[in-house]
Amino acid sequence: MTKRGPMKLGMFYWPGGGQHMAAWRHPQGIPDFDVDVQRIVDLAKLAERGLFDMFFMADALSFWRGPLEAMSHDAAGAWIEPMTVMATVAQHTQHIGLVCTATTTFDQPYLLARRYAGLDLASGGRAGWNLITSGNDATAQSFGHAEHVEKSKRYRMAWEFAHVVRGLWQSWRGDTFVRDKASGLFIDPEKLFVLEHAGEFYKVRGPLIVPPSAQGEPVMVQAGASDEGRELAAATAEVVFAAQQHLENAQAFYADVKRRMPAYGRDRDSLKIMPGLTYFVAESREQAQAEFDELQDLIDPVMGLAMLTNRMGVDLSKFNPDDPAPVMPENPRGGSRAQLVNELIAKRPGITLRELYKHFAGARGHGLVIGTPKEVVDHMEQWFEEEACDGFNMMPPLYPRDLQRFVDLIMPELQRRGLYRRAYEGKTLRENLGIARPAWPTVRIKQDMPKEAQQA
Ligand SMILES: Cc1cc2nc3c(=O)[nH]c(=O)nc-3n(C[C@H](O)[C@H](O)[C@H](O)COP(=O)(O)O)c2cc1C
Repeated sequence: MTKRGPMKLGMFYWPGGGQHMAAWRHPQGIPDFDVDVQRIVDLAKLAERGLFDMFFMADALSFWRGPLEAMSHDAAGAWIEPMTVMATVAQHTQHIGLVCTATTTFDQPYLLARRYAGLDLASGGRAGWNLITSGNDATAQSFGHAEHVEKSKRYRMAWEFAHVVRGLWQSWRGDTFVRDKASGLFIDPEKLFVLEHAGEFYKVRGPLIVPPSAQGEPVMVQAGASDEGRELAAATAEVVFAAQQHLENAQAFYADVKRRMPAYGRDRDSLKIMPGLTYFVAESREQAQAEFDELQDLIDPVMGLAMLTNRMGVDLSKFNPDDPAPVMPENPRGGSRAQLVNELIAKRPGITLRELYKHFAGARGHGLVIGTPKEVVDHMEQWFEEEACDGFNMMPPLYPRDLQRFVDLIMPELQRRGLYRRAYEGKTLRENLGIARPAWPTVRIKQDMPKEAQQA
């Protein structure tokens, strides 16, 4: 094993028959993949054969990611509620962690804590919660809001929400439940932590009604890259799902998040940073490249133009995709992603809209590697050894073909180089990730919150 130990890997499941937006249109693509739970179960079982730490599912609480014209071409308009999927997968797997996404902006901490604690029990200690605040404006309309909740407020809510959830999960230790038939004592009242929380957004009295699982409490995962997101991750997350395309950016993100941790009394190793990685792998580089090109050519121009419209805040739907990209104004709402589009237009004058959307659609903002097993593993090894990450969330472009390729081609090479496990180390997600349960109880909600939230 390398001196950093084995890398951590997640299998990132996003609907659409694959991570590539054109996957369902590929000759081997399965257009109804995501409404057939058996197929998703089989995918998770294949990931378990590949010894993945976790099967990780994204979420969407709105059908709308663009106008109807674009949505009517988008396979990710069909999406099963993730907790239902995870509970099903739990019954057909034994080792793989089950992590799904839920927003703090439109949920309630008690309900969410109860759901994930339930999954944790049902899976024998393999659950994790991926905290998001919901980036998509349309989500607000599923919950009666005309406009999305403004970002700094979302993060103040998320901060308080995350701490309430953890406070509820920490209601019990393993030995709180005495269940002594002779004395009739079921719960030791001395070993109970009763959260009494009254904050800016939530008022919650513990304890949680669900007892702890074999891993004590679910793993906290977080996906959010802004300054607020990084701070929240440093305070509470045990895994961060990141999105970087270049080594230097990933290294800077990694160093920045880990640097923030000691202020919260946390050890750097108690948080694993795992960026997304799309891969096209085949026995020869030429085949891998041809498979990438094949999917890229299947991108529907309606969707490609809608993706650019979203990023740039300029309606491009009526343009011919083979027209040169027009000059577009700065779009502060689009953040760094909008800036990247303008930078590419400046660098390659005359670039067509089709070339532009293909450039950004291939990996949906995540890392991309195309090549032989050796080349893919070289890439992964470099990121891992040079502290750009603690592992990856692998994004197979086409299900199940490319997950099978991981198992057949990438995994053996990772193992040969001592970068990856040959068997699961433990039974729970925490044991496999090598992350201990946080000390009990760690909840200091007011003190932990950012200054402005404390004053509220
Ligand atoms: C790697 C990554 C994964 C994400 N996954 C989801 C998701 O599954 N569903 C969703 O609605 N938003 C998702 N988001 C978006 C978040 O809801 C939103 O961007 C985040 O909470 C605020 O992010 P920021 O701190 O990057 O601004 C994801 C964001 C990142 C960076």
